[in-house]
Amino acid sequence: MVFTFPTLLSMKLQPLSLLLVMYFCAFATSSEIASEANALLKWKASLDNHSQASLSSWIGNNPCNWLGIACDVSSSVSNINLTRVGLRGTLQSLNFSLLPNILILNMSYNSLSGSIPPQIDALSNLNTLDLSTNKLFGSIPNTIGNLSKLQYLNLSANGLSGPIPNEVGNLKSLLTFDIFTNNLSGPIPPSLGNLPHLQSIHIFENQLSGSIPSTLGNLSKLTMLSLSSNKLTGTIPPSIGNLTNAKVICFIGNDLSGEIPIELEKLTGLECLQLADNNFIGQIPQNVCLGGNLKFFTAGNNNFTGQIPESLRKCYSLKRLRLQQNLLSGDITDFFDVLPNLNYIDLSDNSFHGQVSPKWGKFHSLTSLMISNNNLSGVIPPELGGAFNLRVLHLSSNHLTGTIPLELCNLTYLFDLLISNNSLSGNIPIKISSLQELKYLELGSNDFTGLIPGQLGDLLNLLSMDLSQNRLEGNIPLEIGSLDYLTSLDLSGNLLSGTIPPTLGGIQHLERLNLSHNSLSGGLSSLEGMISLTSFDVSYNQFEGPLPNILAFQNTTIDTLRNNKGLCGNVSGLTPCTLLSGKKSHNHVTKKVLISVLPLSLAILMLALFVFGVWYHLRQNSKKKQDQATDLLSPRSPSLLLPMWSFGGKMMFENIIEATEYFDDKYLIGVGGQGRVYKALLPTGELVAVKKLHSVPDGEMLNQKAFTSEIQALTEIRHRNIVKLHGFCSHSQYSFLVCEFLEKGDVKKILKDDEQAIALDWNKRVDIVKGVANALCYMHHDCSPPIVHRDISSKNVLLDSDDVAHVADFGTAKFLNPDSSNWTSFAGTYGYAAPELAYTMEANEKCDVYSFGVFALEILFGEHPGDVTSSLLLSSSSTMTSTLDHMSLMVKLDERLPHPTSPIDKEVISIVKIAIACLTESPRSRPTMEQVAKELAMSSRSSSMSPQTHTEMKD
Ligand SMILES: *[C@@H]1O[C@H](CO)[C@@H](O)[C@H](O)[C@H]1NC(C)=O
Ligand SMILES: *[C@@H]1O[C@H](CO)[C@@H](O)[C@H](O)[C@H]1NC(C)=O
Ligand SMILES: *[C@@H]1O[C@H](CO)[C@@H](O)[C@H](O)[C@H]1NC(C)=O
Ligand SMILES: *[C@@H]1O[C@H](CO)[C@@H](O)[C@H](O)[C@H]1NC(C)=O
Repeated sequence: MVFTFPTLLSMKLQPLSLLLVMYFCAFATSSEIASEANALLKWKASLDNHSQASLSSWIGNNPCNWLGIACDVSSSVSNINLTRVGLRGTLQSLNFSLLPNILILNMSYNSLSGSIPPQIDALSNLNTLDLSTNKLFGSIPNTIGNLSKLQYLNLSANGLSGPIPNEVGNLKSLLTFDIFTNNLSGPIPPSLGNLPHLQSIHIFENQLSGSIPSTLGNLSKLTMLSLSSNKLTGTIPPSIGNLTNAKVICFIGNDLSGEIPIELEKLTGLECLQLADNNFIGQIPQNVCLGGNLKFFTAGNNNFTGQIPESLRKCYSLKRLRLQQNLLSGDITDFFDVLPNLNYIDLSDNSFHGQVSPKWGKFHSLTSLMISNNNLSGVIPPELGGAFNLRVLHLSSNHLTGTIPLELCNLTYLFDLLISNNSLSGNIPIKISSLQELKYLELGSNDFTGLIPGQLGDLLNLLSMDLSQNRLEGNIPLEIGSLDYLTSLDLSGNLLSGTIPPTLGGIQHLERLNLSHNSLSGGLSSLEGMISLTSFDVSYNQFEGPLPNILAFQNTTIDTLRNNKGLCGNVSGLTPCTLLSGKKSHNHVTKKVLISVLPLSLAILMLALFVFGVWYHLRQNSKKKQDQATDLLSPRSPSLLLPMWSFGGKMMFENIIEATEYFDDKYLIGVGGQGRVYKALLPTGELVAVKKLHSVPDGEMLNQKAFTSEIQALTEIRHRNIVKLHGFCSHSQYSFLVCEFLEKGDVKKILKDDEQAIALDWNKRVDIVKGVANALCYMHHDCSPPIVHRDISSKNVLLDSDDVAHVADFGTAKFLNPDSSNWTSFAGTYGYAAPELAYTMEANEKCDVYSFGVFALEILFGEHPGDVTSSLLLSSSSTMTSTLDHMSLMVKLDERLPHPTSPIDKEVISIVKIAIACLTESPRSRPTMEQVAKELAMSSRSSSMSPQTHTEMKD
């Protein structure tokens, strides 16, 4: 699918094959041509209606100008290319024996089902067979071995099962063999080693078992061998060392064992070697980078012992190294020379000792440095501040001492800083506020002292903060309350005192709060605003008074509340507030507690067992999944992203899971109604945003062709102002959308932050409005059928690094259930939804126009227009003139910016007028997005909008 795409290769071969055809087939008779046409028409008639419509050009008896058909000089069909035509049906009624001159048969990316007919061997001249990404099932027919001229075979991403026929060993001309992502079982046929020209084998993601045949070592032309994600056992045969042309070898996620044969060191051309997630033992091959070409090396999650291979020390080509979760040891202080290309290194969960070398500061490509859970000692060297590309730094669970060096605060891209569970001391530096990208800050279980700096409140992107188990004192700073995106806050096990600042309750997204084991006092009422809270612990403090009236506190147990001064409430084990003053006998209370605690503990026990069961199951399933990502790495593949992989693309699924470590919170970048959004760095270095849906969409719905083709259509949309949807994955546990990642995030967030809002001057704001208008215009008027967004709001408009607006989630709002706690009856965001949605369920283009109007005002006002929209609705129905409207609105312009001056002021006015037109109550009176976009384009040229065009828009 990815790094071999036979159709591309075969195109190059066409001139040659045409010559051959000229020679062999110059005498095709007209009756032969007629029978070819008949064979194709008969097959067309067996397909469903939609497919027949796609093949509407297939009429008459001259197939040569039909869609997807090419003929040779004697007008005989030589090439059938029906990739991505939306075909649905089977191949059973295609009479292959009437099409003897076909060289290329490409029906990839359709919905063909049924099995591959054994008669396919009648295509005796076939050079390319590509049936990939369909829904074919059944086994691969043995007769495939008769296609003696076949060079490119691609049956990947189907539902094929059964064994790989041994007869593939007869395909003597074969260059590429792609059958990945199926359900094939049984052994890899040793006969595959008989194919002298074979250059690449991709059989990953099947259920293949048995050992790797040693005959594969005969394939002297082989450059790529991927056997990942199967159930292969045994050792790697030493003959693999004879694959002297190998560039990529992937064995990830099997049950391979034993030591790595020394012969592998002969493969000096290797660029990518993947051994992760097996049961290998012994040493990692010492000369793995001997040839100086190695870029990607993965050996994680095995039982490798000994030291890091010596040849990696000076492996200047290396980009990504993963050795985590092994039994490796040795002093790593100055092990590595400065490797200028190293981007990612994970040495976590081993037994390395030594220090964090100052040299890491010179690794200028390094984005991720992970050495958690080893035996490192010494300090965090100030020089590390020189590794300016660092985004992820994991040094937790070592024996590090000393303070946090100020230079670390120079790492402005850092978003994940994990240094918990060491012996670090001193204060938390005030300068930490310069780490503006920081999302995860874990400083727990160290010896930090002093106050919690209020400057932590400047880390506006922070999602999770753990300062637990230190010796921090003083109050919880007020400023923490400004961390709007924070979902987890752990301050437990410190010496904090005073009351909870009233601002803390303002963190509406907070889900986990731990304040236990401090000396905090006063009441808990200020937590009342924490509507998202799901777990908390305030035990072992001096709190008193009633529990806050939020859900988390109503469904809690005494464990989260015990050992305080005087909390009261309706939780068993706690005195009800009304009883506090009354005189109940001690005896009575204990009895009551016992009666209510017993069934509760039983329930908790059962719940715990259940949770353990689920966890265990997930763990078992997951072991093989890690490390999958790099398997796809090929130095040649320009992009790893499949345009669409709703069902076939297990590999992409694995990639995303790996890159987000099973949706670990540390990759979280936002939370919305439909789900949580994570940032994933794919092994290619491509950043994507992954929106994990709260609920797995209804399976039945997903099977519908309409759904699949709709998603497919969305993935094919390319517009400067629309966030590119890469695809959708559905799985029993997770469903998610994968989209382009945009650096600056959503407009809502930007407008909320004064500094960013000021940077967004009038020119930029006008351009953003135009961009959104263009996107909507394109989707409403240039797509057939039109695509309605349904949920335009400032949260769905994202900016890239150049402040260009991109509309996110186009067309997806329709099939994603919005969070049940929000609006269940229609897709849309409160405050942006057109009034008619309150009584009709049907969202159409005019609803988008309304939401656009709200958005346009929001971006000019710097905040949601709020009541303005409803008063507009009123005023327009009371026939107030629009001139008055827009003048009254001009005073609401964002005051953080200087009042717009000429020439941009004309455009601002024009936007206000257009927005007013968009907010008209009657959907029919609103302009279309085409009119809006035109009007906006005109307003930048001519200074003001003529009254005539304005009334035109009101029509
Ligand atoms: C097959 O058709 C598709 C779509 O029309 C086209 O992009 C592709 O280049 C064609 N491939 C060959 C081998 O002709
Ligand atoms: C590798 O090839 C050489 C030369 O053809 C042959 O002698 C040797 O037996 C092969 N090694 C293995 C392990 O198959
Ligand atoms: C490593 O060895 C231990 C002990 O034999 C075994 O339990 C564990 O599964 C092995 N781990 C891997 C990843 O093979
Ligand atoms: C890094 O930080 C230190 C101390 O905070 C500062 O003096 C130095 O100029 C910074 N270096 C760079 C390259 O920004």
